[in-house]
Amino acid sequence: MTDTRENWSARSGFIIAAIGSAVGLGNIWRFPYVAYENGGGAFLIPYLIALLTAGLPLLFLDYAVGHRSNGAPPKAYKKLFKPAESLGWWQVCVCIIIALYYAGVLTWAGSYIFFSMGQIWGNDPEAFFFKTFLRTSEASNFDMSFVSHLFWPLVGVWALVLAILYGGVKKGVELSNRIFMPLLVVLFTILVIQALRLPGAADGLNAFFTPNWKAMMDYKVWLAAYGHIFFSLSVGFGIMVTYASYLKPKTNLTGSGLIVGFANSSFELLAGIGVFAALGFMAHSAGTSVQEVVSGGIGLAFIAFPKLISSLGAGADLFGILFFGSLFVAGVTSMVSILEVPIAAMQDKLNWSRKKAVSVIGFSTGAVSIFLFSSVNAIKLVDIIDHFINNLGIVSGALVSIIIVSWFKRVLMTELEIHINSISTVKLGRTWELTLTVVTPVVLLSTLALTLNALLQKGYGDYSLSLQVWFGWGSIIFCALGALLFTKLSQR
Ligand code: ALA
Repeated sequence: MTDTRENWSARSGFIIAAIGSAVGLGNIWRFPYVAYENGGGAFLIPYLIALLTAGLPLLFLDYAVGHRSNGAPPKAYKKLFKPAESLGWWQVCVCIIIALYYAGVLTWAGSYIFFSMGQIWGNDPEAFFFKTFLRTSEASNFDMSFVSHLFWPLVGVWALVLAILYGGVKKGVELSNRIFMPLLVVLFTILVIQALRLPGAADGLNAFFTPNWKAMMDYKVWLAAYGHIFFSLSVGFGIMVTYASYLKPKTNLTGSGLIVGFANSSFELLAGIGVFAALGFMAHSAGTSVQEVVSGGIGLAFIAFPKLISSLGAGADLFGILFFGSLFVAGVTSMVSILEVPIAAMQDKLNWSRKKAVSVIGFSTGAVSIFLFSSVNAIKLVDIIDHFINNLGIVSGALVSIIIVSWFKRVLMTELEIHINSISTVKLGRTWELTLTVVTPVVLLSTLALTLNALLQKGYGDYSLSLQVWFGWGSIIFCALGALLFTKLSQR
């Protein structure tokens, strides 16, 4: 085992990096389109309930596990309970899968910073996004055609992220967050203020903030909220376990967790406000309603914003650069955290040096990511993998970690609670225990059952069975096999 484990330079370094991880594409790209697809105002209340009943309790659990065991997930879970090592490797594999497509979307954001200059998407941003930029294949199966203008930016994104990771915890991860996060706050604040000043913005905000009680009866809205919250907070797939493992022994864990949770949700709400204000403006200009102004879905940020930017006249370039710049900056710090999990796991368990871990994980994952996301299948693969890995991969990993400590090895829960309370200002107690023992597992079990049932009955979207099997179910099978294989390998 490596005895040269790095630390954050101070608690502030950890908090900034944890916020940097949590605030990412999930907040600015994913949240607004998931909210839009789930009825806008219908989504906010399930989201807040998911945050309180699952997100925050699990955030504290992840912190406690990582901090107490001083390791990335495989080592951390094994220390708590030997058979749980595979859970740790499962979470490592989930991160590897997420990194594949995260880099893809990050590349789009980076490219759109340049496209904003002169609005090169022309007067049909939707056709530009799908056809001219992504060259989306009409074929229903995997199409090998390659898009060179996606390839080079992808290589650039991977090079940037790996360069940060080579720097290590203090000089790479922490330093990049200390530079990028204040930049993000500035970019984003200007952006949201600008969006709010647009005519029609208030209609967009009404659509976002008016609860839609009828839509809330639809269980799918709740599934979407629970499926989103873990991704957004970076919990349940090893990131917070790993980041907490770099903390010094005496650190206020709950206080830090509340800051991170609050910052993440504030960003998410701000992103929602910005996007819906922009949609309100577009609806106002087109004389239609907010729900009809654009087709929703995964391309929302890349279609709605260009439309909006083009209609701005003066200042359009700047507005575009601010939006896509924010998306890119937020995404880089999260991407770094996603890859930190497998890298730290290899250092912990296979005793690799940092350099070797970054090189092996970075180059192998990067090669697959570049291959897949510079192909004409990019958007389909993002959609399929994101759906399966969030709703099945993350949710099931989170559920198992909760069930282990709250049902199987209850003594662990008490130990973790004592650990947290001995060093933290805000104390955990009956509410945390009860939530993790009853509320969260019951909700997650139901979520998982409904998602599985829907996927097995109807599949996902209108994608071909072969794409869903290879990339959707394939991602889940990869995590299962990886969990078994790495557990065996690390025990030799
Ligand atoms: N938490 C990260 C995000 O929201 C993964 O994008």
